[in-house]
Amino acid sequence: MQLDTPQQLSKTTIILHWVVGLSMIGLLAVGQVMEIFELYSLYPIHKALGFLIFFVILARVVWRFKNGWPTPVSQYQRHEQILSKLVHWVLIIGTILMPISGFLMSAVGGHGVDVFGWEVVARNPDPVNAGKVIAHNADIAGTAHTLHGIIGKIMMGAVALHIAGALKHHIADKDNTLRRMLGKAV
Ligand code: HEM
Ligand code: HEM
Repeated sequence: MQLDTPQQLSKTTIILHWVVGLSMIGLLAVGQVMEIFELYSLYPIHKALGFLIFFVILARVVWRFKNGWPTPVSQYQRHEQILSKLVHWVLIIGTILMPISGFLMSAVGGHGVDVFGWEVVARNPDPVNAGKVIAHNADIAGTAHTLHGIIGKIMMGAVALHIAGALKHHIADKDNTLRRMLGKAV
């Protein structure tokens, strides 16, 4: 399989970056909106897509460690290199922790996880009130819920910094960083 070179990123890197990146932006937005406005009809699709994208995320992490990180297109100031590396790490670790915490919150919390009709984890209904569920372990589910919220906020900040960085390279520095991630040879 073709690896990244400083002149051109491989198709694998580019496809995985945009599939995972755009899905994460969508899931962060849907998660935030459905929670604030209590749009319960969006919960099943958020959970199902979040579950499925986890497998693409795992493939991306394996690829990232096999291939190494892309080499910067030119020599930047040291603080800029450190900040961009830090943000890349936060983004890649966040992509792993968000689906895991979401899955645990729902599965251990008794709500179950259903992926477009495939019951991955069954609901655990309360025998007294079938509309409610009983948590298998309320502490673990509660911690996972808190983490899903906190890591989600950290991800939103990191994604904003990351996009600002990509635009700075493209507009202010006028370099090929964004062009290379769009598949152009530089
Ligand atoms: C894969 C990436 C995912 C992202 C980026 C994501 C993002 C978010 C965000 C930002 C929120 C709002 C949290 C808050 O404001 O406190 C949220 C809520 C939620 N997420 Fe996810 N999520 C993902 C995956 C999952 C998965 C796999 C599940 C379950 C299988 C899940 C279940 C939920 C549930 C049930 C809520 C609502 C919690 C509540 O009502 O308090 N998420 N998600
Ligand atoms: C519109 C949104 C986005 C734009 C314009 C964008 C742009 C870029 C660019 C230009 C690079 C190459 C940096 C370099 O050459 O050093 C990059 C790398 C990267 N981006 Fe994004 N990105 C976006 C969204 C995201 C999101 C949402 C995530 C998080 C899930 C993400 C995670 C990463 C990571 C981890 C890298 C390092 C290289 C890799 O692992 O493929 N990006 N991005």
